[in-house]
Amino acid sequence: MKSPLRFFPSTALALLVGLSATGALAGDPIHQVPSEVCQNCHQEIYKQWSGSMHAHASAMKDPIHAAFYQSEVGSPTEEGQVAKANKQYPVCLACHAPNAARDKTTKLDAKPAYAEGVNCVACHTLAKYKGIDAGGGKLRLGINAYELADKIQAPTGLNLGLQKLTAGDDPFGGAGASGQQKPNPHLGEPVEFEGKKIPGLPMEGNPSLMRSNDACMGCHDKRNNPHGVALCGTGDEYAQSRTQVTCIACHMPLSGGLTDHTLGGGHDQGMLERSVLFDLKAQPKGDKLAVDVSMTNQQPHILPTGAPFRNMYLKVMAYNGKGEVVWQSTKGHPSEDDPQAYMFLTLVDDEGKPVPPPQAKKAGADTRLKPHETRVLSYEIPAKDVVLVRGELYYNLLWPSLAKKFTQLPDELKQPVLMAEAEKEIAKP
Ligand code: HEC
Ligand code: HEC
Ligand code: HEC
Ligand code: HEC
Ligand code: HEC
Repeated sequence: MKSPLRFFPSTALALLVGLSATGALAGDPIHQVPSEVCQNCHQEIYKQWSGSMHAHASAMKDPIHAAFYQSEVGSPTEEGQVAKANKQYPVCLACHAPNAARDKTTKLDAKPAYAEGVNCVACHTLAKYKGIDAGGGKLRLGINAYELADKIQAPTGLNLGLQKLTAGDDPFGGAGASGQQKPNPHLGEPVEFEGKKIPGLPMEGNPSLMRSNDACMGCHDKRNNPHGVALCGTGDEYAQSRTQVTCIACHMPLSGGLTDHTLGGGHDQGMLERSVLFDLKAQPKGDKLAVDVSMTNQQPHILPTGAPFRNMYLKVMAYNGKGEVVWQSTKGHPSEDDPQAYMFLTLVDDEGKPVPPPQAKKAGADTRLKPHETRVLSYEIPAKDVVLVRGELYYNLLWPSLAKKFTQLPDELKQPVLMAEAEKEIAKP
C-alpha cells in the first residue's frame, strides 16, 4: 500500500498539521506514537492496558525489572548503555521497551512511546513471526523475532479493498462499544477529534498474527542468560502440554464485546485465584487426621510460569474449638521445615549453589507444577481437640533471597499473595 497516491496527501497534511494536541508529531513513525493517542478513541482498552504489566514493562515503570536492569545494564535514562555481560546493546529492551529497541536507543525518557514499554503500537506493529530460533543455538528475542510494520496490525482490519470500490461516506466511523460516532484515523489520513489533531494511523488486517500465539511468542517463548541457561520458557512448557487453546483465549478474553487488554499474570490476584484447583480432605486415622491437600495446575504452562523467581508455597493449619492453632505444617517458610510444600525453580552455579538468574550456570531442582499436573501433599495431624483444618496456598513474585536483597522494592511486591484456600470441619466422634 505504499503507492505515492495514497501516501502523498497524508504526508503533506501531516506537515501542515504539525504537532498535534496529544503531543504526538503527526510525521512520527508509527512505533513512536504514544498510547495516549489511541486513548482518545479506544478508552476502555486504554484503561485496561494502562493497569497491565505491559504498560509497566520498562525500567522506567517496573521496580523489579528496574532493579535487575540497573545491575545488569545501567541507567535507563542515558544513551549508549550496553549490557555488562557482553558489551552489546541490551537485549532486555527488545522485550521490555520494544519501541526504543526499534530505534536502538537506551534513553527511555526521550519519548513516551519508549518509557511506555509494551504499548499499543509495540504489539500492533508486529507483522510476521519469524520464530526465536536463529540457528546455531542463537536466539532472536522480542521484536528481533518479527518482521515489523509501519501500519497498525489488526485482528480483522479495515476492508480497504472494498472501500476503494464504495464511494462517499466513511464506512468505518462506528465507534464500537461506546456507540459514539468517531472519526477514523485508520484510513491513513489525519483526523480531528474533540478539538485534537490525530495523525493518520494506517491499518491493515493481519489475523494470522493477531489471532494466534505468534502475537506473544517473540517475547514469551523463552530466554537464556549469558551462560545459555534458560531463565523462563512459557513457550516450551506450552508446546509440551500439546494444547490447542491459545494464549489469547485465556489472557485476552472478551469482556463487554471487546478484547480485554488487562493481560493479567503473576501480578494479578484474580488470575492467580483461578489458576489452581485447590482442595483439602481430612480422614480420621487412629488418633490422627490424614489430610490430603490437592493442587491442580489449570494451565497448559507451568504454575507458576514465567520469571524464574516466581514461586508458591503451601501452609496447613489445624484449629481447636477456641480458634487457636494447635498444629501447623510450618513455623515460618516451608523451605526450612516442610520442603515438599515449596514449589519453585532453583538456578545454580557450577558447585550447585543457588544463585541469582544472571550468574546461573545451570538449572537446579524444579518443583513447580507441570502443565495440568495434579499434586497431592499428605499430612498426619494429631486429632486431639482439632475441629477445623485449613490449607492456604501463597504466591510470591520473588525468591525469599531476592526479596531480602532488593531492599529498595516496595513491600507490596515482596508480600506473599493468598491465591487459594480450603477448609474442612472435623466432625466430633
Ligand atoms: C500485548 C500485545 C498488545 C498490546 C500491548 C495491545 N494490544 Fe490491542 N490487541 C492485541 C491482540 C493480540 C488483539 C486481537 C485479539 C483477538 O482478536 O483475538 C488486539 C485487539 C485490539 C483491538 C480490537 C478489539 C476488538 O475487540 O475487536 C483494538 C481496538 C486494540 N487491540 C487496540 C489496542 C490499544 C488502543 C492498545 C493500547 C492501549 C492495545 N491494543 C495494546 C494485542 C495487544
Ligand atoms: C480518532 C479515533 C481513533 C484513534 C485515535 C485510534 N483509533 Fe483505532 N479505531 C478507530 C475506529 C473508528 C475503529 C473502528 C472500530 C469499529 O468500527 O468497530 C478502530 C479500530 C481499531 C482496531 C481494530 C480493527 C479490527 O481489526 O477490528 C485496532 C487494532 C485499532 N483501532 C488500533 C488503534 C491503535 C493502536 C491506535 C493508536 C495508535 C488507535 N487505534 C487510535 C478509531 C480510532
Ligand atoms: C514486545 C514483547 C511482548 C509481547 C509481544 C507480548 N508481551 Fe507479554 N509481557 C512482555 C513483558 C516484557 C512483560 C513483563 C513486564 C514486567 O513485568 O516487567 C510481559 C508481561 C505479560 C504478562 C503479565 C506477567 C506478570 O508478571 O503479571 C502476561 C500475562 C503476558 N505478558 C501475556 C502476553 C500475551 C498473552 C501476549 C500475546 C497476546 C503477550 N504477552 C505479548 C512482553 C511482551
Ligand atoms: C488455560 C488458560 C491459560 C492459557 C491457555 C495460557 N495461560 Fe498464561 N496464565 C494463566 C493463568 C491463570 C496464569 C496465572 C498463574 C501463573 O502465573 O502461572 C498465567 C500466567 C501467565 C504469565 C505470568 C508469568 C509471570 O511471571 O507472572 C505469563 C507470562 C503467561 N501466563 C503467558 C502465557 C502465554 C504466552 C500463553 C500461550 C503460550 C499462555 N500464558 C497460555 C492462564 C493461561
Ligand atoms: C525475550 C524477551 C525478554 C527479554 C530479552 C528480557 N525479558 Fe525480562 N521478562 C520478559 C517477560 C515476558 C517477563 C514477564 C513474564 C514472565 O515472567 O515471563 C519478564 C520479566 C522480567 C522480570 C520480572 C519483572 C517483575 O515485575 O517481576 C525481570 C526482573 C526481568 N524480566 C529482567 C530482565 C532483564 C534485566 C533483561 C535483560 C538482561 C530481560 N529481562 C530481558 C521478557 C524478556
